[in-house]
Amino acid sequence: MADGFSLSDALSGPGNTNPNAPPNQGWPAGPWGNQPAGPGAYPGAPGAYPGAPGAYPGAPPTAPQVGPGFGFAPQPGGPTAPLRVPFDLPLQTGLVPRLLITIVGTVNPNPSRFSLDFKKGHDIAFHFNPRFNEENRQVIVCNSMIQNNWGKEERTSPRFPFEAGKPFKIHILCETDHFKVAVNDAHLLQFSYRMKNLNEITKLSIAGDISLTSVMPAMI
Ligand code: GAL
Repeated sequence: MADGFSLSDALSGPGNTNPNAPPNQGWPAGPWGNQPAGPGAYPGAPGAYPGAPGAYPGAPPTAPQVGPGFGFAPQPGGPTAPLRVPFDLPLQTGLVPRLLITIVGTVNPNPSRFSLDFKKGHDIAFHFNPRFNEENRQVIVCNSMIQNNWGKEERTSPRFPFEAGKPFKIHILCETDHFKVAVNDAHLLQFSYRMKNLNEITKLSIAGDISLTSVMPAMI
């Protein structure tokens, strides 16, 4: 394990400094799901072989994770440029329980909205859409889109953890029957699978008013 960092620490340990944060609500207490840490590497690190703990086949990490408060060690060679938004992450073998995707970025000044879309072709299995000013309110809209038709919106997020100009870290964990979302190390919401063939959900598209530092898939 890289010096002093593990995802479980980030989610369940003292890294979560918000005294108002809700309990972790089923996020694996460290180590993640009792998986052994990959030797000398954080999950999904370059050089991890397919099938190794932490490796997601065919989807190497896109950039080193750096940034205040996130505890990710810079990689040799130093930080790279931000990823271009909109950004697509191919998920070659689709979704599978225990796939964890970590998205690190910063909200733009004067944001309107951004979205994460898990896609099966043109259909969207999970649309996660923070809106910064919907009739003067902040709301997170979750939905699916099948054959160009949006489904029923879920607007049950108990908090709106994003702020203009501020960095964020989103974890999306695929469980057996839902996506689970944590922001800045605190559980936020879950979204039940509406499309059942997880292996056909082969792309994550990220768009909107953010800059992106890294998007990293890993198996936990
Ligand atoms: C629509 C919006 C879409 C998507 C959808 C979610 O109003 O145009 O981009 O966010 O809501 O239900």
